[in-house]
Amino acid sequence: MAGNEPDFFSDPEVLQDPKSYFDRMRAQCPVLREPYRNSIMVTGYDAVIEVMNRRDDVFSAALNILGPVQGLPFAPEGGDIRAQLDAHRHEMAWSDHLTCHDGEKHARNRQLMTDLLTYKRLKANEVFLYALADRLLDDLLPRGHCNAATEYAHAAATFAISDLMGIPQEDRWPLVELLGAPPSQVEGEATHRVTTDPLVFLKERFDGYLKDRLAEPRADLMTELLGTTYRDGSAASFEQYSLLARFLFAAGQDTTSRLIAIAIRILAEDQNLQQQLRQSPHRIPDFIEEVLRYESPVKCSYRLAVEDTTIGGMEVPAGTVITVGLMAASNDPAHFPNPDQIDIDRANKRDHLGFSKGAHGCLGAPLARMESRVALERLLARTSNFRISEAHHGPAGARRFQYEPTYTFRSLIDLHIAYDGA
Ligand code: HEM
Repeated sequence: MAGNEPDFFSDPEVLQDPKSYFDRMRAQCPVLREPYRNSIMVTGYDAVIEVMNRRDDVFSAALNILGPVQGLPFAPEGGDIRAQLDAHRHEMAWSDHLTCHDGEKHARNRQLMTDLLTYKRLKANEVFLYALADRLLDDLLPRGHCNAATEYAHAAATFAISDLMGIPQEDRWPLVELLGAPPSQVEGEATHRVTTDPLVFLKERFDGYLKDRLAEPRADLMTELLGTTYRDGSAASFEQYSLLARFLFAAGQDTTSRLIAIAIRILAEDQNLQQQLRQSPHRIPDFIEEVLRYESPVKCSYRLAVEDTTIGGMEVPAGTVITVGLMAASNDPAHFPNPDQIDIDRANKRDHLGFSKGAHGCLGAPLARMESRVALERLLARTSNFRISEAHHGPAGARRFQYEPTYTFRSLIDLHIAYDGA
């Protein structure tokens, strides 16, 4: 039991520096019960793989996104809680969405998304992504400085998914404003405010977009989504398509924008690496994999043991919430020697868990990789250098960065940089 550690789910210092916390936990034991929320925290690479690759549905995703802070709406009884979980699922946060589904229901709906997000489909959008990055930079570069988190990373990711999905130009910013900043998880607001469908506020608009496309198909992802069918050829319900469209829109922007911002922060601190990538842009994908390993936007995922089981030889009773430390696993020195070093030549860098693995592994990974590659490529090509703004973040060695108050995601609130044009 990790008795002397701060509470991962609320401590401000852990929010600033989650990796040190994960390192200390892993050093005690890669599978360890944390005392504040009574979840089992998995921080070792092999143990995380064991959980994520398990194929027998012993680990449910029903508590995904909020994890142990949400708690279970029932008191687990006995060595198998499947019937209890099924009876209470509809009361749990995010339970309308794919990310919390299990088994056959999950596999069927995930298949629709897999058919949709093909590499070929995404590749067709690459030209747009280049033009988008250049358009944003046309505005930002003459100023000599910007907030790269909001004005570049977030704008690029939001416009990219909006364009791909076919969201009308005039709706894009209003939708981003509607999405707003995520509720603070750290102050416990999230658990009070989050419902079975936290994206319900997007429903009216997305239902409208989908109905327009039923009446008149277009060349966009929402039209294609409506054309996807289950393996037996049957269509999903209209509500299911709408849920998937909303989730795609939400999942498709925040995480990618977080990745781009973290990548820019790292490069702004390392002028040698920055110059290397400027001179050899074909290495940018390797750098992106290292960022996903070193500091991925998703720190944790969550699972619920639905029957008595084990992880890494440790007994895990039914009803136990598992905090799966994706960032922790990607920084496990037993799998990645010198994990604190960004090393674009690292042989096994693609083993990282930035996109998770297994049944719920990220479906948007190819798009996220492409968007971030294009955003970095254009920023590097159109500047001769960029650096952290000391006025905003303090001098080297004593930087101050603020992160969104969420234990699940790693997300810079602001990233002020200054630059010189190419
Ligand atoms: C850098 C950007 C991104 C990161 C780091 C990321 C990370 C993740 C992770 C860690 C999961 C799995 C959570 C788990 O195992 O429980 C996930 C799931 C998912 N992601 Fe991403 N994601 C990114 C971008 C995207 C994009 C651009 C899209 C869509 C266009 C997307 C769509 C999804 C979907 C649909 C799922 C749910 C899959 C399922 O539950 O079966 N993601 N993502």
